[in-house]
Amino acid sequence: MKYALFCAYLLTHLTLEQVTESHLRNGERKWPVPYRRFDRRPEVDPFCQALYPFCPTGDSDSRIPYMRDSDIISVFRLQAPVWEFKYGNLLGKFHIMHDAIGFSSTETGKNYTMEWYELFQLGNCTFPHLRPGVSAPFWCNQGAACFFEGIDDMHWKQNGTLEKVGEITGDQFNDMARWVQEDNETGIYYETWTARSDPSVNATVWFESYDCSQFVHRSYRKLSELGAKLTSKTQTNYTKIYLYSGEPTYLGDDDTIFGQASMKSLAWDIRNFYHAFQPHQSIVDTIISIIDVYEKLILEKSFYLFYNFQYWHLPMKPPYVQITYEEIPLP
Ligand SMILES: *[C@@H]1O[C@H](CO)[C@@H](O)[C@H](O)[C@H]1NC(C)=O
Ligand SMILES: *[C@@H]1O[C@H](CO)[C@@H](O)[C@H](O)[C@H]1NC(C)=O
Ligand SMILES: *[C@@H]1O[C@H](CO)[C@@H](O)[C@H](O)[C@H]1NC(C)=O
Ligand SMILES: *[C@@H]1O[C@H](CO)[C@@H](O)[C@H](O)[C@H]1NC(C)=O
Ligand SMILES: *[C@@H]1O[C@H](CO)[C@@H](O)[C@H](O)[C@H]1NC(C)=O
Ligand SMILES: *[C@@H]1O[C@H](CO)[C@@H](O)[C@H](O)[C@H]1NC(C)=O
Repeated sequence: MKYALFCAYLLTHLTLEQVTESHLRNGERKWPVPYRRFDRRPEVDPFCQALYPFCPTGDSDSRIPYMRDSDIISVFRLQAPVWEFKYGNLLGKFHIMHDAIGFSSTETGKNYTMEWYELFQLGNCTFPHLRPGVSAPFWCNQGAACFFEGIDDMHWKQNGTLEKVGEITGDQFNDMARWVQEDNETGIYYETWTARSDPSVNATVWFESYDCSQFVHRSYRKLSELGAKLTSKTQTNYTKIYLYSGEPTYLGDDDTIFGQASMKSLAWDIRNFYHAFQPHQSIVDTIISIIDVYEKLILEKSFYLFYNFQYWHLPMKPPYVQITYEEIPLP
């Protein structure tokens, strides 16, 4: 029943036709397709059950502490390998990193960590559940910001990065906090993949990912807009998970694809595509599945991307899938 409510919510708030039409310019689509913002974050469907609680030490009312205008707040760039990728040589060649931002108040001596991540882990944001009796694939793909007191220096320093990249005033911090809360209410779902035309610098980006590192980049841009100067002594590299394809085609949403008899064969193709990639509990299994996508794509050259709660067909081409760790400079 909650699912029906959620769908009704999407229908009233998404106005799908508008979304689709708004980036058709002179009959040509504007790329990348803008990430859809919502009026507010909907309740999570009870089918989605987190194995690990989201943001366990954050404020239960999602408050961010207020800083005095006169305070000077240090800003830290935080990055660490996802723990499964820290030790051992399994998948050791991949840099699967998690990114966050740290803040430290000069006046109170307190420090804080701010990050954005999946409510139900990477597997659930990358692949949907095929539920008996529910024709559309079911996604537990919400992601959100988490702000909590403390910086775990050891966690970030060991095989990772803890670097002071700038200072802001209490005022700038409070402005950023307001923006974070709005961003958190309106940007509700995680997107693993960046889809683009080829690996070159001039490639057309079809879809941007929406993940922990994108949140960090948005926050840095916001801070820089507010007047902060951010600099790093080292190269600032981030994990990206790419799909390579020709121009994508819009297919439809749950209702148009899975609610109409005339779309039966497309509906079957999409379910069949995701049948091979059910969500996993561990990140290693998810990454192995992402690599398996490669095998499947070489054969089938088709990917059904779920973006803005709509499906798109991607005519895949070499090198199909890549996990990179590449430089994205501070603003
Ligand atoms: C992914 O979602 C399923 C369905 O709700 C849930 O059972 C599972 O615990 C979730 N996985 C993680 C790692 O949270
Ligand atoms: C973001 O939204 C989630 C889900 O509602 C909430 O748990 C979290 O506290 C919010 N984070 C911030 C920084 O407001
Ligand atoms: C954050 O605060 C803790 C506790 O006072 C301290 O151990 C740690 O070094 C601080 N980290 C940073 C980056 O300021
Ligand atoms: C990570 O750090 C630990 C302890 O400092 C070290 O033993 C290990 O070799 C490091 N791993 C990598 C991949 O650098
Ligand atoms: C990218 O585009 C610029 C400007 O059009 C051009 O000068 C450059 O050679 C291109 N680079 C590649 C790798 O295609
Ligand atoms: C960081 O990114 C740059 C450019 O994207 C790349 O040349 C370099 O090898 C990357 N560093 C690591 C450690 O992968």
